[in-house]
Amino acid sequence: MKPKVLLTRRIPSAAFTRLDAACDVDLHDGPNAIDPAELKRRLADKQGLICLLTERIDGAVVDAAPALKIVANVAVGYDNIDVPSVKSRGVIVTNTPDVLTEATAELTWALLLTLARRVAEGDRLIRRGGWTGWALDFMLGTELRGKQLGIIGRGRIGRAVAAKAPAFGMTAVFAKHDMSLDELLVSSDVISLHTPGGPATRHTINRRTLARMKRSALLVNTARGSVVDEDALVWALNERLISGAALDVYEKEPSVHAALMTMENVVLAPHLGSATRETRTAMADLAVRNVIAVLSGEPPLTPV
Ligand code: DGY
Repeated sequence: MKPKVLLTRRIPSAAFTRLDAACDVDLHDGPNAIDPAELKRRLADKQGLICLLTERIDGAVVDAAPALKIVANVAVGYDNIDVPSVKSRGVIVTNTPDVLTEATAELTWALLLTLARRVAEGDRLIRRGGWTGWALDFMLGTELRGKQLGIIGRGRIGRAVAAKAPAFGMTAVFAKHDMSLDELLVSSDVISLHTPGGPATRHTINRRTLARMKRSALLVNTARGSVVDEDALVWALNERLISGAALDVYEKEPSVHAALMTMENVVLAPHLGSATRETRTAMADLAVRNVIAVLSGEPPLTPV
């Protein structure tokens, strides 16, 4: 008999075919994230769970599934999972590192360029019929060449972002490696966040750290919404303590702070860091391979 696996969202067909061949799959195929009560109910007889960052997985969920052996998150971040509680119940947790590094680094640069050169602002202007023509002093942005890119978080994604800095003539520096966080805040022209989410990094960017930044600084967050205190960010932007922000992640996704939505010097993306066809396929495939390995008695490929 094939092991039973709950899959909380449709995944690319190549990964689904691999999973379906090895497991008895119960797919939640609705347009919305699975309801927590339904998740528990459907997980009750399963050995495996493939879930997304939109699902909260804690000890109570695992207690509802006595046969559960693995929780495979289709994300590199796992702040949606209470890892100590899940692991203390003998259940393996896996994530999807490496496969999304380049996609997330690319999006970081896309957001930074969009912010620095006012691309989204210009797009909005044209669409509302507000463009009256070329002018020498019209919609001037900030050049990246010669500037310092301060990176907070020296993991795979932070390093991949730094690797692209020379192509734009920027010097990348890492907090706690090349200099202290405080030195990085005061000296960087761009500050890009690449730490994990969770309690240890919650509100790293707050009133105090924002006040240390240059008034011309640009802040980019493709890490986790919890890393930035959004109220403090709105305050800093209103007080002109920093020049702009580009965000892919938010404290209360999918809701976005109302004040941020009104600001022209803020670029907003709907959590697209890993959202390329290639990467989402690779992420799903890695989660599937983790589940198949564990349910066949082999070690997981990418355990947390
Ligand atoms: C991750 O994998 O943690 C990303 O945020 C998903 O896009």
